[in-house]
Amino acid sequence: MISFSCKSRLKEDSKIDKLVQQMTLEEKIGQMNQVMNFIDTMPIDPYFYNLIQEGKIGSVLNAYSPEMIKEMQRIAVEESRLGIPLLVGRDVIHGYRTIFPVNIGLAATFNTELVKEIAKIAAIEARSEGVNWTFAPMMDISRDPRWGRMVESCGEDPYVAEQMAIASIRGFQGKNGFNSNSIAATAKHYVGYGAAIGGRDYNTTLIPEAELRNVYLRPFKAAVNENVATVMAGFNELNGVPTSGNIHTIRDILKNEWGFKGFVVSDWASIKNLEVHAYAKDSSDATIKALQAGVDMDMCSLYYLDKIKELVLKGSLSEELIDDAVRRILKIKFELGLFENPYANKDNKLITEQALDIAKKAVIQSTVLLQNKNKILPLSKDINKVAVIGPLADAPYEQMGTWVFDGKSENTVTPLKALREYLGNKKINYAPGLKISRTRDKKAFADAIKAAKNSDVVLLFMGDESILTGEAHCRAKLTLPGYQNELITEISKLGKPTVLVIMSGIIHMIEPYLEQVDALLYGWHPGTMGGPGYVDLLFGLESPSGKLPMTFPRTEGQIPIYYNHNNTGHPASDESWVRMYDIPLKAWQTSLGNTNHYLDYGFEPLFEFGFGLSYTEFNYSDIKLSKETISLDDSLIITARIKNIGGFKAEDVAQLYIRDLVGDIVRPVKELKGFQRISLNPGEEKIVEFILYPKDLEFHNGKKWLIEPGDFHVWIGNSSKATLMSKFELK
Ligand code: BGC
Repeated sequence: MISFSCKSRLKEDSKIDKLVQQMTLEEKIGQMNQVMNFIDTMPIDPYFYNLIQEGKIGSVLNAYSPEMIKEMQRIAVEESRLGIPLLVGRDVIHGYRTIFPVNIGLAATFNTELVKEIAKIAAIEARSEGVNWTFAPMMDISRDPRWGRMVESCGEDPYVAEQMAIASIRGFQGKNGFNSNSIAATAKHYVGYGAAIGGRDYNTTLIPEAELRNVYLRPFKAAVNENVATVMAGFNELNGVPTSGNIHTIRDILKNEWGFKGFVVSDWASIKNLEVHAYAKDSSDATIKALQAGVDMDMCSLYYLDKIKELVLKGSLSEELIDDAVRRILKIKFELGLFENPYANKDNKLITEQALDIAKKAVIQSTVLLQNKNKILPLSKDINKVAVIGPLADAPYEQMGTWVFDGKSENTVTPLKALREYLGNKKINYAPGLKISRTRDKKAFADAIKAAKNSDVVLLFMGDESILTGEAHCRAKLTLPGYQNELITEISKLGKPTVLVIMSGIIHMIEPYLEQVDALLYGWHPGTMGGPGYVDLLFGLESPSGKLPMTFPRTEGQIPIYYNHNNTGHPASDESWVRMYDIPLKAWQTSLGNTNHYLDYGFEPLFEFGFGLSYTEFNYSDIKLSKETISLDDSLIITARIKNIGGFKAEDVAQLYIRDLVGDIVRPVKELKGFQRISLNPGEEKIVEFILYPKDLEFHNGKKWLIEPGDFHVWIGNSSKATLMSKFELK
């Protein structure tokens, strides 16, 4: 018999105790079972009905309609023996009915207040239809744009992921406990899922302990500190052990070391997958491994429902372990107030004016201006004719992005619609050129070229359909699909002022387009209010202020490339980069210097992390530190002056970076430690202030956490290439 002592028992709670005492083993197991009803019509099909009635389901996910949710909840509450309400889970990922920009876009806002507001609106809307639990926020670090799920992430930086995770959890759950407008959040996917080798979804991950702690676990730790209700174990295998059966990460770190008090749900059938990974020999083995690792609820494998009873009776699983899981699940149900009010909050409204305003603000703040030759943007409203071209110009469904179950095309405002409203239909020459992003014929090119010729400015809305991004939708080639490249090339030959807006959830290799167009806005999949948000930016009602949350490589072969890498013993520089075409024949192997670069593509990305242009310019100066030396119980105030030296009122994201010069293990060349949005009128200046604590300098060396004395560099600026630098010492 494998005995397992569960050290993470919750504080005794009388309501939970009372209920658990009344529960049969079958009813306890039922609470640990989460399923989806695949029959999408009402009435509820008899098989599913009976399961709920018999108390064999603790949670349902992704139900088809509010009516179905209501009926399922009614059966649980009114017809099951103990009347325990259901947790109604759903992927409310970047909005419920009001759809906000995809998460990588939200990260590009570098605006945690906004992200909190968005999660709050999503919670209110979800609860209005009976959903009480979302599988968000996703906080996987992603350094690889081939990985289709980068769209759901906050990009490459653990600090950004951590801050955005905290903001989302506060928005979904509320800061001081749940109320009838909040929903339970899920920190996912625990852990390391974004490190999939080759950026191919579900792939193996290999992450050394120090890297795991310093990068991948950080946002999860922050989520636990923020009282996130649930954590979702991932699909990936981590260093040989699948994360849904991983004692080290779930039992030891999450539950014992961090004291997580919520519950762990598996990912979809990830307990069953333990067999596919060949980590478990059969369903019993998978059940034992998942449960012992600390997975409390089984999403859709049905293994817990089928196997636990037999395993407990045989003595292969202790009932103590089951009780712990059930208590954790019931705790969240009690905290959510489901025993008093299990149903939808009917006072809540969908798509309010306020929600739409926030959605538009999010489009404005997430869109990143990457090029603006000759200050072609912003455009004047007095313009005569505008050509609107591209497969994303009028694709309401597609611009909502991945993971949209509840958003509606009819609520979505496309760029074309918004431009027609703003400029009047007469000024618009619309010709998409390509039916969809993947169209591979040139039949409609002639119309697009004609429209462009007859216009003063060309607006190209290119990108991807939503299905080309997200789970299991990874790409090895990251140029725009279909004949979009060809269309851009044809249009660029006309020599008209041309603006390219890319609408996608992933990063494309855009270097060739920079030559072909005047301005380039990276607009992500912007959601419901994409059109109006873009119009405000294109016509200068607002200035772009989004910043890249992920490094933009020049070509796929540079992947992975990220700003917070370690130094090699042979760091590259512009001088040391040997250009392939400059190498003389028969040059001696080392005569040209050996540094860490590609002969053809060098070592720099196309655009660095944190980068994004504005319609104005900002000057950063006067970096000052409150002290040159700090001790362990001290803090350090770092300030800099930011001045708007252009002619446009705008916001910028001031960023604080540090470098730990020498470490017990090699430390990254730069690490983000703070960011702030600052709004400045033309000519105005402000002092931006950041505080650093010794705790912020802590890192894990693979065995333990260290705060090491030594020298540090510190920068303030508006990208990871910030040059305004100072130094301090930690004593
Ligand atoms: C995804 C999760 C999602 C779950 C439920 C899985 O395939 O990996 O992120 O929450 O399905 O829909």
